[in-house]
Amino acid sequence: MNDKVQAALNTQINMELGAFYTYLSMAAYFEADGLKGFSAWMRHHAEEEMMHAMKLYDFIHARRGRVTLKALGDPKTVWENPVAAFEDALKHEQKVTAAINALVDLAREERDHATHSFLQWFVDEQVEEEEIVDDAIQKLRRIGDFGPGLYLLDREMAASAASSEGQAESEAGEG
Ligand code: FEO
Repeated sequence: MNDKVQAALNTQINMELGAFYTYLSMAAYFEADGLKGFSAWMRHHAEEEMMHAMKLYDFIHARRGRVTLKALGDPKTVWENPVAAFEDALKHEQKVTAAINALVDLAREERDHATHSFLQWFVDEQVEEEEIVDDAIQKLRRIGDFGPGLYLLDREMAASAASSEGQAESEAGEG
């Protein structure tokens, strides 16, 4: 496959794995803080990031290219409060969106139609990713320091993670 596109896809694998690591670290932070619903949500999201990395990994191989894995940096491990963690997650998603857009531009410049088509899934996925993280931020900002509100949102996040896991399992079963 085109060398420039292959290098950029490999960099994107590293970014998705970095996102996996960040969300897993957030899951561990919430778990240690007794917010098991937030932890489950973050853990589920970490798994989604791993799936994104593997989609890219499989695509490079399908195109008879070469996957080159790179080092991951240490993720942040502590946040001031739940909303700070979600704000970091949103910043991370916005960086991923910018990287995906740059990849789409590169595929277009290089006239790599297969990669261009493949990347459309990621373009759509990023709209959803930014929206769900921003939804959580809005709710957390409304709750502020109101403990019962945080307790209820933790339960809601647990239910959301469980339903997403169930959906992912049934999709995997259909495949
Ligand atoms: Fe794979 Fe959340 O971007």
